Amino acid sequence: MAGEIRKVGVVGLGAMGSGIAQLCVEAGVETVGREVTAELGQKAHDRIAHFLTRKVEKGLLERPTRDAAVARLTLTTDVAELADCDLVIEAIVEELGPKQELFSELERVCRPGAVLATNTSALSVTEIASATSTPERVVGMHFFNPAPLMPLVEIVRAELSSDAAFETAYAFGERLGKHPIRCHDTPGFVVNRVLIPLLNDCVHVLDEARVTVEDLDAGMRHGAGWPMGPCELLDLVGLDVHVHASEALWEKLREPRMAAPPRLVAMANAGLLGRKTGQGFYSY
Ligand code: 3HC
Repeated sequence: MAGEIRKVGVVGLGAMGSGIAQLCVEAGVETVGREVTAELGQKAHDRIAHFLTRKVEKGLLERPTRDAAVARLTLTTDVAELADCDLVIEAIVEELGPKQELFSELERVCRPGAVLATNTSALSVTEIASATSTPERVVGMHFFNPAPLMPLVEIVRAELSSDAAFETAYAFGERLGKHPIRCHDTPGFVVNRVLIPLLNDCVHVLDEARVTVEDLDAGMRHGAGWPMGPCELLDLVGLDVHVHASEALWEKLREPRMAAPPRLVAMANAGLLGRKTGQGFYSY
């Protein structure tokens, strides 16, 4: 039986967390967003307010509906303020240590029946859950970038997830207007298991075929029907995020195609992370 979700917490309000929080308030759910500083929280709030205003300007949303959605978001820097949430979705840095620490804290502060979900791209949900003494309430809810626009959410069953937590997360994905799919906790789950090596292949092709970035993107858009080219997509996802996810998959699967191409690692090390830094394969 899926539990009822009246209040949601979102921890980490970067590109993914703010997109997830936007979906929650648009779906009519009281949402508490937690960031490490009030300034970062405010930045996410402004970003959400901006995208909802754009929807009003384009006639996709009524002004009072937009205002009510924005009002459903409260901000905090204190994890303890998530105590009465029915579901908490974590979208912090993609590193196991900080995620485990957070889940152990969430277990202490949240009510016993609350479902704890991670938006991890490529880490093991089971390993994150192992930092708690109630791993049955931990699941994966993996959204895609940009979360408000991409229809998919992967609902990930970790080794010890309960049916109730899993189905609650699935039902909540539907309530957000997403197309949820059920899968098990394997490296990269469904989409990233396929997409990450594919994007790495695309970067290798840049050198092998001596094609320009623009022509490679045009090739995959016009010859394979991709909505955006691989280099545009890497810039959107963030080269740091992609390199991290590649490394996590390489560590688990040891398949050469999972390893991040040196060209991407060098770009990430140089701070050419894509849209968020204003420069990646393209300038923004
Ligand atoms: N959050 C909220 N709203 C947003 C937004 C965001 N991040 N970005 C754009 N919008 C809103 C804007 O208001 C925009 O309208 P405006 O420009 O008039 O203000 C509106 O959405 C429409 O945006 P676009 O015109 O850019 O929309 P497009 O029709 O061009 O589609 C796209 C954009 C959906 C991103 C499409 O290009 C696409 O599907 N690209 C592929 C993306 C993809 O593959 N994502 C998956 C990445 S992998 C991943 O996330 C996994 C992770 O684990 C790494």
